[in-house]
Amino acid sequence: MSLPIIGKKVFVEVPSTTANLGPGFDCLGAALDLKNLFTIQRVEGNGERFELIMESTEGNHLRGGPENLFYRAAQRVWNAAEVEPFALEARVSLAVPPARGLGSSATAIVAGLVGANALINNPLSKEKLLELAIDIEGHPDNVVPSLIGGLCFTAKAASERWRIVRCEWDSSIKAVVAIPSLRLSTSEARRVMPKNVPISDAVMNMGSLTLLLNGLKTGKEDLISEGMHDKLHEPYRWKLIKGGLAVKDAAMRSGALGCAISGAGPSVLALCKEDLGKRISQAMVKAWESEGVASRAPLLSLQTEGSRWYPGKIVGSST
Ligand code: HSE
Repeated sequence: MSLPIIGKKVFVEVPSTTANLGPGFDCLGAALDLKNLFTIQRVEGNGERFELIMESTEGNHLRGGPENLFYRAAQRVWNAAEVEPFALEARVSLAVPPARGLGSSATAIVAGLVGANALINNPLSKEKLLELAIDIEGHPDNVVPSLIGGLCFTAKAASERWRIVRCEWDSSIKAVVAIPSLRLSTSEARRVMPKNVPISDAVMNMGSLTLLLNGLKTGKEDLISEGMHDKLHEPYRWKLIKGGLAVKDAAMRSGALGCAISGAGPSVLALCKEDLGKRISQAMVKAWESEGVASRAPLLSLQTEGSRWYPGKIVGSST
């Protein structure tokens, strides 16, 4: 397979995601309409040359090198497609803030996979990209919806294969995501999890999950309210999120149908009907403010398209 010419460029849009939705620890995740935009280009140099330039809405310019998840993902594409690595530059316009529980790492993995694949004319199938993405991140509930969009339930079947079920989400249901200035890494949030849980907690989560999936499918508010409960990770993680329970309380008092930690936190997600979104958002921000934590709380919809790439104009000339 021939390498792309130097200067070949693609754009990749990757949505944010909320993982562990309610009782769906490590399996249920949804894509939301807040996205990172990556511009990826083959540049002069050998396969070890990689530079990631991040431009965030806060105006800071961060840089990353070959240790970045984006580059590790691109390498997995080159290995699987049996092409020689080549030098890359990636710029990301960052709307999904890092370490907030909105799948920012998943956007880097997915952009690395989709972008590297697109630059070599897409030899790898979407199924292969999904398999690589789950393998790189280690859990499926961010990377799967980030790649294919929508509400995704991903389970490792008894056959050891990953199986993905795309679930329905009634469009009347929206998500307010309160994003604090606090950061929390997934590894830290995983460290506080117990190795075993009581069987009664596991049974409760299975019941809640069934109610929630039916509620999201039909838009029935009582099913969503009864289903948005978790006993597998939240009881251990709330203590890592300063003011988190007060923010949840404020959302529920303002009419949210249910409220949960988004991913591993610290963002807090509330499900609601659109007309209550503004009130819930203001209440969540105010609750965090009284704990001395700055935040913002956008009202988001389900993003159903997943990641998309577009060809860019070729910059420069020689091969
Ligand atoms: N399911 C993962 C966890 C999501 O809770 O650790 C992290 O983004």
